This record gives sequence, structure tokens and C-alpha cells, in this order.
Amino acid sequence: MDFVEHLKASIDIVKVIGEYVRLKRAGPRWMGLCPFHTEKTGSFSVHATHQFYYCFGCQAKGDAIKFVMEIERLSFYEALKLLAERNGIPLPKRSEYSDPETKQRAGIFEMHELAARMFRNALASGAGADARAYLAKRAVAAGQIEEFGLGFADRSGQFLVRRFEQEGFNAEQMETSGLVLKRQEGPGFFDRFRGRLMFPIQNESGKIIAFAGRALAAGEEPKYLNSPETPIYHKSTVLYNLHRAKEGIRKRDRAVLVEGYMDVIGVYSAGVHEVVASCGTALTNAQVRALKRHSANLVVNFDPDAAGANAAERSIQILLEEDIRIRILELEQGLDPDEYVKQRGAAAYQEKLAAAGSYFHWLADRARARRGATVEGQMAALKELLPSIHRMSDKLERAAVAEDVAHYLGVERGIVLEQFRKAALDRRERTPGAEARLSVPAMEKILLNAILASPAIRPEILPRLQAMGAAQRFVTRGIFQILFLLQESGQNIGFSEIDARLEEPDRQLLLTAVLADEMTEGADFREQAEACLKKLEASEREGRRTEVRARLKEAERAGNFAEALRLAEELNRLDSAGAKRTDSGAPR
Ligand code: UTP
Ligand code: MN
Repeated sequence: MDFVEHLKASIDIVKVIGEYVRLKRAGPRWMGLCPFHTEKTGSFSVHATHQFYYCFGCQAKGDAIKFVMEIERLSFYEALKLLAERNGIPLPKRSEYSDPETKQRAGIFEMHELAARMFRNALASGAGADARAYLAKRAVAAGQIEEFGLGFADRSGQFLVRRFEQEGFNAEQMETSGLVLKRQEGPGFFDRFRGRLMFPIQNESGKIIAFAGRALAAGEEPKYLNSPETPIYHKSTVLYNLHRAKEGIRKRDRAVLVEGYMDVIGVYSAGVHEVVASCGTALTNAQVRALKRHSANLVVNFDPDAAGANAAERSIQILLEEDIRIRILELEQGLDPDEYVKQRGAAAYQEKLAAAGSYFHWLADRARARRGATVEGQMAALKELLPSIHRMSDKLERAAVAEDVAHYLGVERGIVLEQFRKAALDRRERTPGAEARLSVPAMEKILLNAILASPAIRPEILPRLQAMGAAQRFVTRGIFQILFLLQESGQNIGFSEIDARLEEPDRQLLLTAVLADEMTEGADFREQAEACLKKLEASEREGRRTEVRARLKEAERAGNFAEALRLAEELNRLDSAGAKRTDSGAPR
């Protein structure tokens, strides 16, 4: 067997992609939010049996190797190597599976590994005494130094260069690595980082791709010297600490975003393992999407100075575009996250995190502080906030936030709603149809999931639903139509059977429904479906009652007493039927 085939046969695509994207089982496939485009409802599917992925939204598709190439920005050969290494599969002779570009990059990766090792050793050696003293002063423990791979860059400027030359790295690798610089005069290179405390920066799979070097003396500029962009380092897509944090982010279903490397280390050591930082740049959409693959909840905890607050405000705009639920933590007395943990302890910091408030209250406070507490000030503050709120793509959430903000600012509700109605109109003109897209009411989601998950309840639930006629008014009526058909004809009911008989947008609705949060593992589907049916039956009855009541009034007004009597009797029957059903439906 060809090595590529052998590799593909020995790995599981669900496991490979599951490292990067939260996947939920949905019938024969696994579903999640697409990592390749912005979306709120998952259209990204992974097929275990056929070993490929497909996005219904952006049509991205391929096998495990293609996925790793795209997500890690690797060449084919690099992806092959990464998958082989991660799964303990020996690679065949290297030359057979590499091209010149891959070789070049492989060299740069190696240079980074080597540099990190040398920096670590230097920190432990005599030359690292000052750096060690600095770390001790900042109360960074030995365990943290090791965990974060901190090191020291020798002052000589020849420390890395000599070793790289010994190892036979070529001039082009030297130049593009970003680790050394070409001399202005004369031939040769010298180290970029000199006399600095070194922080390795890793990509999502843990490979070292860059460094940041902190000055040891106060006032030395720049405070942090960072690696430049290189063939293996694209600053705008990297989050510091993500490879360590991602497991914690999933587990706690939230991430904490701080500004600095030192903040990450301090917060992480306080037991908050879901912490990341952007690498000294303004937050980018690519970084946010990397976060969102693991959780849609984020606490932003920037430095409590003006620069930090401005950065937080800018970040909010980007986070809202990507549909992240944001809370803001601003620590008191000018403490940054690292200082706070050191001075007040881990427990106090965790409490602060838990109590962090929603971003719009924070924005409202800021706007109010700028605008004053007069009526004009409040209106101005509201106007300032509206654009942020409008970036939220969920209509209901947006409206709720608008009301909350109005209340918080003390602006009259009617004014806010009016502003919103106007802006909503603009919005609709800008993105036709986007609003109506893919919203499935909770009850329909529950029913669909129950029916899909539990064959036993289908013969009871489906005929009752069909008889009621309520399903004709469902958003997902197209799906239920197919369900009724399949049930009646005694055919197998499964995700793919239904999916195959649907057209867009019903197909998309089905995906949305099976991916819904309402679908809880180990839930009692019969109970859930029964509760939904009860509710539907009750509302059908209520609808009928309202209708009969109206006709009764009409008949009385028209003096048609025979008809009125008949209707009154019917109303009576409806009332007692309702009462009876409610009785029998009481908890057992
Ligand atoms: P800070 O100055 O707040 O750094 O900058 P810090 O990480 O809290 O470090 P300490 O506690 O002062 O040692 C926040 C982040 O901005 C980037 C770095 O990523 C830093 O961690 N930065 C800052 C730079 O890239 N270059 C600089 O010169 C300064
Ligand atoms: Mn700081």
C-alpha cells in the first residue's frame, strides 16, 4: 500500500478534526461549526465511514490530510509528517516525501526547536543568573519556567549563529528563520535576541514557531522584542498559549483573553488553564475563529489602563462579528491579571472571573463616563453603543441586549426600540434573507431529535402529530412531511434517509435541528416528546377555544341563539377536555 493510503487507513478523521473543532454526533456524521468560515449554526460535517469532511456553508471539503494542511497552513508533506508523528506511524525515507519548500520550512522548525533548547540551557547556566534573578523577583516558580519553556538569550550575539552554522543550516534558512540577522557590513549573521528573557510561541499543535524576548532592565527598549513574520509564523493567526489552553477552553466552555505573556503565565498558574493572549497585536478575526473552534464564550481581561480599555473596546467589535459571547473583567486598583493573581491569590482571581459582567454594561459605563448622566448624555451614550449591538447577528439576543442597555442607561424603552427598528431595516436591506436563515424553534428541535434518536417512540408520536395538524405550521414542516411518509410506508428513519429526500433550505434546517443544544445526551426522549405533544395539543385547543368564543359572541350579537347554544356547549366540551388532559398529565 502507498504510504499516504496507509496513513489515511490508520487514522480516524473524526479524531483528527476533533482536536481542532468541537464535534457532535448527528446520525451517521459528526457536526460542528465550520473552522473555515464564520457561522453561528454548524454546517460542517465529518463522515467517519467515508473519512471526509464537508461544509454545507462554504463547500470546504477533503480528507484528514487536507484538513490539517488547511488548518495548520502546512504543505502536503508537512501535514503527512505531522499526522504520522502524532499517530506513531514511521515515515518512509524522508526525501521521498518532501519538496524543496517543505525542506526549507522543516529546517526553520528545527532551528526553533534547537534555539528553544539552547535558551533553556542558558537560563539554567551561569550566564542566566540575571534572568533567573528577574524571574524570582516576578515570583515565577521553577515549575512555570519549565512548563512555559522560558529561556535566556545570550548577550554575545553569536550564540545561535555559531550553532546553526555547525549544524549546517544554509544561508537562506538563516535569513528567513527570523532568529538571526544579516550583518550590515561584512559577511555573516548575528543573533536577533540578545540578553533577553525568552518566551517560545507555539502553534496550535505545540510546535515552536516564534519567540518573544523581554528586556531584563527597566526602560530598555523595546520591552518585548518579537519574531518577525516568517514562513512558519503568521502573527495574526496565532494566539499565545492556545495549544495548552484548548483543552481547558473546551472543558470549561470559555476562554480568558489577556494582553501579555506574563499575564498568561500568572493566570495559568492560578489554575485558570483556559487563558490565551494575542501576540502583542490587535485581536484579529483569524485569532477569534481559532478560539471559537473550542468555545463561543470569552472573558476579556485586559490591563486596567486606557490602552487596555481601548484595546478591549476594539476587540469587542471583532468578537461580536464572530458571534462570541463576551464578558469583561476589569480588575481594580490598576492591577493587571498577573499582578492580581500574585497579590490577591488564585481564588480571588477566579471569583473575579466568575463575576465578570457582560460587555455591554461595561461599554455603557464607559460611554456614560464620557457623556455624563444628563438625558442628552444618556442618548449620546446609547447612540454610541448601538453600532456594537448591531454587530450581533442574532436578532432576539440583539433585541434583549438593546432593552437591557436602555434600562441600564435609563433611556426610555420606546426610544431604543425606535432606533432599533430603523437600524434593523437597514440591516435587512444589506443582507437579504440572512435574518430568516436557519432558526428552528426549540420545540421542533426537541421533537426532531427525539424522533431521530428513539425508534420506539415513533409509532406513538408521529401519528398523533400528523392527526393534530400542528406540524403543518412548523418551520420544519418539510422535514416532518418526510417523517410522516417514511413512518407510514414502514421505511427506515435516519438522518441520511431524511436528508436525502430534502432540498435546501430544509436540509440546512435539519442540520440545525440535530445540532441543537436542546439535544441532550442520555435524555428521556419519550418524556421530552410527550411534553411537547401536550403543549401542542393544549395550544391547539386554546386556538380552537378562542375561535369558538369569538363565534359565540358573534352569534349572540346577531341574535342567533340556537347557534350560540351549540357553540356554548362546544366551548364547555373543550374546557373539560383540557381539564381532563391536564389531570392525566400530572407528574407520576
Ligand atoms: P505589557 O507591557 O503589558 O507586558 O504588554 P506584560 O506581558 O504584562 O509583561 P510585564 O508584566 O510588563 O513583564 C502586553 C503585551 O504586549 C506585547 C507583548 O505581547 C506583551 O506581553 N508587547 C508589549 C510587545 O509586543 N512589545 C512591547 O514592547 C510591549
Ligand atoms: Mn501587562
